[in-house]
Amino acid sequence: MSACDRRRLLELLSMGGMFLTAGPALAQPRFITPPFQLGVASGDPAPDGFVIWTRLAPEPLAPHGGMIMAPVAVAWEVAADEAFRHVVRRGEAIARPELAHAVHVELAGLEPGRPYWYRFICGAERSLPGMSRTLPAAGARVDRVRFAVAGCQHFEEGWYTAWRHIAEEQADFVFHYGDYIYEGRDTGGTRLMNGRIFDPVRRHTGQEIYSLDDYRLRYAQYRADADLQAAHASAPWFVSFDDHEVDNNWVADLDQDGTPPEIFLLRRAAAFQAFYEHMPLRRASLPRGGGMRMFRRAQFGDLMQAHFLDTRQYRSDQPNGDGDKPLAREVFAANRTMLGAEQEAWLFDGLARRETRWNLIAQQVMMMHLNTQRDPLKSEGVYPMDTWSGYLHSRRRLLDHIHDRGLTNVAVVTGDAHQHYAADLHLDQGGAPVASEFLATSITSGSDGLGETPFNALWRRNNPHLKAMQDRRGYVLCDVRRDLFCADMKILDQVREPGGRLSTHARFVLERGERGLKSA
Ligand SMILES: [Fe+2]
Repeated sequence: MSACDRRRLLELLSMGGMFLTAGPALAQPRFITPPFQLGVASGDPAPDGFVIWTRLAPEPLAPHGGMIMAPVAVAWEVAADEAFRHVVRRGEAIARPELAHAVHVELAGLEPGRPYWYRFICGAERSLPGMSRTLPAAGARVDRVRFAVAGCQHFEEGWYTAWRHIAEEQADFVFHYGDYIYEGRDTGGTRLMNGRIFDPVRRHTGQEIYSLDDYRLRYAQYRADADLQAAHASAPWFVSFDDHEVDNNWVADLDQDGTPPEIFLLRRAAAFQAFYEHMPLRRASLPRGGGMRMFRRAQFGDLMQAHFLDTRQYRSDQPNGDGDKPLAREVFAANRTMLGAEQEAWLFDGLARRETRWNLIAQQVMMMHLNTQRDPLKSEGVYPMDTWSGYLHSRRRLLDHIHDRGLTNVAVVTGDAHQHYAADLHLDQGGAPVASEFLATSITSGSDGLGETPFNALWRRNNPHLKAMQDRRGYVLCDVRRDLFCADMKILDQVREPGGRLSTHARFVLERGERGLKSA
C-alpha cells in the first residue's frame, strides 16, 4: 500500500478518539486520546482467580465511547508484584462492540489468599494498574477479613470523597449493594432537598435513561470519576444491583408506573446488559433470556461465608401501594416472596453449612423491622413496604431458619436507606435478637445530610432494637476476626465540596456465640 493510499485508509477509518491501522478482522487501534478513561476493576474473587475488567472508551461521552464499531484486541497482564517484574499470566481478550468494548477476563490457576496486580494494553496505550486479591483456600485458617460496604452514589448530589477513602482502606474486598447509577434526568439546577436549597455539584447528561445507549452513557459518566476508579483499582468488588440501575423501586417485571410487564422487561434487559458491561462480573452473570444471575457465594477460608443476594429480580410486588404504610394483611401473606423459591432454598442451604465461623448476608434493602412513623401524635406504626417489612413471611422464614439452626454468627449488611442504621433483628419484637444488621449510608445520595434528623429521637423511642442512626454520607467498614465482627460507621462532614473530612460515628461489635450488637 502506498503512503497516499494508507493515509486515505486512515482517514476513512478514523473516528472519535481512535483509528484503525489494520483490516476489519481484528482492529489494531491507534488512539488519539488514551482508551482507558473509565479505569480498571476486578471482582468476584475465588481462591484461584478473579475477574479483571476494563472498557475501551477514549471519549466516554461520545457515541460508542469514541470507539470504532469493530472488535479490538486488548492484551492483559497479571503480576505477583506491584512493579510487574514477575508477570504470572498474560493474554489477549477481544473488546467487542456488542458489549460496548468492555473486557471481562476470568483468571484461574492463581495462588489463594494473596494480592495480585493487573493492567491492560491496547495499541501503544497501557492502563494504570489495579490491585486484586484471591480468596483464601476453602479450609485455610483465616484470622482476619476487612471489607467496605457502600453504594447509592447519586452523581449530582455530591463528590465521591468516600470512594477515595475506601481506596485507602486496603480492604480485602468491597461490597457494592447497588444504586451504582441513578436513572433520572438532569435535574436542571437549584432544587429543594430535605427542605433546603440544593445546587447539584455536577449534572446528569440528558433525560431519564431507557435505551441501552442511554444506560451506557450514564455508566460512562459515573465511571469517569477518579475517586470511584481509585476504589475499583484498590480491591476486588462484589457488586449487586438495587433499583436505580433499572428504575426506582422496580421488582421482577414491574415498574412503579404500571408499564405493561412485557414493555418494562425491554427496558430492564437494556439496563442489565449495561450493568454487566460495566461491572467486573463473571460470565455466569452474563444476561440470558432477559435475566441475570446475581446471587452467589464466597468463602474466606474457615472465617466467613458471604451470601450475596438479589432482592429485586424474583420478588413479589410491594404490598399496600408501596411507600411507608401500616401493616396490612397482605404484608404477612405466605405466597409473597422477597427472594423467590430457588434463591431462598440456596440461601438456607448455605447458611446451614457451618463451615465457617461467621455468615455474612450481603443484600440490598433493610431487614430490620423499622417503624418510620414521623408524626409523634400518631400511635399507629408505618413501615417501608419496599423493604423486608413488606415481606414479613419471607423475613420470618429466614429468621426462623437462623434461629432454629442455632446460628449465632449471622451479620447482615445492607444499603438503600441513605442513612446509617445499626439494629438487631428479632423474631418477635421484645424477644432475644436472632441476628444483627449494619445498614450503610450512601456515598452521596441525599447530599451532606442532616446528621440528626427531626424524627431520629422518635424512631429510637419507637424502635428499641435500633442502636444507632446517622444522616451523613460514608460507608461501613467491617473488620472480622475469629471471635469478633466489628463494624465502623464512617461518615463525612460534607460532600458538596471535595475533600470532606472522614470520622467514625459509631462502632458496634458482634461477639461470636452471642447474639445482639454491642457498642464498642
Ligand atoms: Fe439509593
